[in-house]
Amino acid sequence: MFDKYINQIIHGDCLTIMKNIPDNSVDIAFADPPFNLKKKYNGYKDNKEFDEYLEWCEQWISEMVRITKLTGSIFVHNIPKWLTYYADLLNKIAYFKHWIVWDAPSAPMGKTLLPNHYGILYYTKSAKDFKFFDIRYPHFRCRKCNSLLKDYGGKKYLIHPFGPLCSDVWTDIHRIRHKKRRDEHPCQLPIPLLERLILMSTDENDIVFDPFIGTGTSAIAAKRLMRNFIGIDIDKKYVEIANKNVSTENRTQIGNSYASIYLNKIITIRDKDWDEIKEYVEISDDIAKIERQKNRKKILAESNLFDYSAVK
Ligand SMILES: C[S@@+](CC[C@H](N)C(=O)[O-])C[C@H]1O[C@@H](n2cnc3c(N)ncnc32)[C@H](O)[C@@H]1O
Repeated sequence: MFDKYINQIIHGDCLTIMKNIPDNSVDIAFADPPFNLKKKYNGYKDNKEFDEYLEWCEQWISEMVRITKLTGSIFVHNIPKWLTYYADLLNKIAYFKHWIVWDAPSAPMGKTLLPNHYGILYYTKSAKDFKFFDIRYPHFRCRKCNSLLKDYGGKKYLIHPFGPLCSDVWTDIHRIRHKKRRDEHPCQLPIPLLERLILMSTDENDIVFDPFIGTGTSAIAAKRLMRNFIGIDIDKKYVEIANKNVSTENRTQIGNSYASIYLNKIITIRDKDWDEIKEYVEISDDIAKIERQKNRKKILAESNLFDYSAVK
């Protein structure tokens, strides 16, 4: 019964479909639900009463946790207002890992501060035995001169040749701005956002579940990274677009490793894949210089030789 859903985008109500999915069967569950902000979807009416919206959210969040494997993770994307309520429920049925800040401007909410981030709640089903992989993003560089933007000062020799480990604040992934890169959907997420979550929490061939798949972002990301997917959307038109999008996707591999690549730039890699990936990427001159200095220091330290190059 459940097998028939693998690598399918299903047209239907997520609560109904999830009832057919057994406990502990998907590796990660990611949800980007309607935010109840009166967005103009094709069919769905985004204007539930406050209590009605939260009661509905509680149902699908509980189902997401139920169907996630014990080694798996649960991610929920929303505006901070709703995430505070979600966290209250999730804290009782899963283990809090992070509130990931995705730095992206959202709609003004009225009198107070301008909202400038979305949150992604990150929970795991088990306290300890969950899958997690360190991930890295490329160093920020000046667009004009290409030099490193961060001043590492005397600590330059400590920097990683690809880039820093990702923290829980993501400022380098942008919303889809160009119309030509968008589908007919009011809130399509960028693929690199999903790829980062998938690289961080799953292995090849794992199952990525998304109850509100829209035009297929999480399924596309899963397919590019050689993961399986199950997606659901209540809107037939979005399901059709998602199916079309997914059918034309190919894997994005560097050697034997998977990476998130957007517009010919690597966006995210796993730390453990760097040794393989570095064989395929061009190392910039400044990083090459730092690496040479690092090697020289290491050789000198090991051989007790004097570093004449340091004499002014
Ligand atoms: C915020 S959008 C998701 C967008 C998606 N992440 C993407 O990148 O394309 C929410 C989606 O939930 C769908 N939806 C609303 N109620 C639903 C339900 N009960 N079951 C399944 N899908 C539903 C809407 O049609 C809409 O496409």
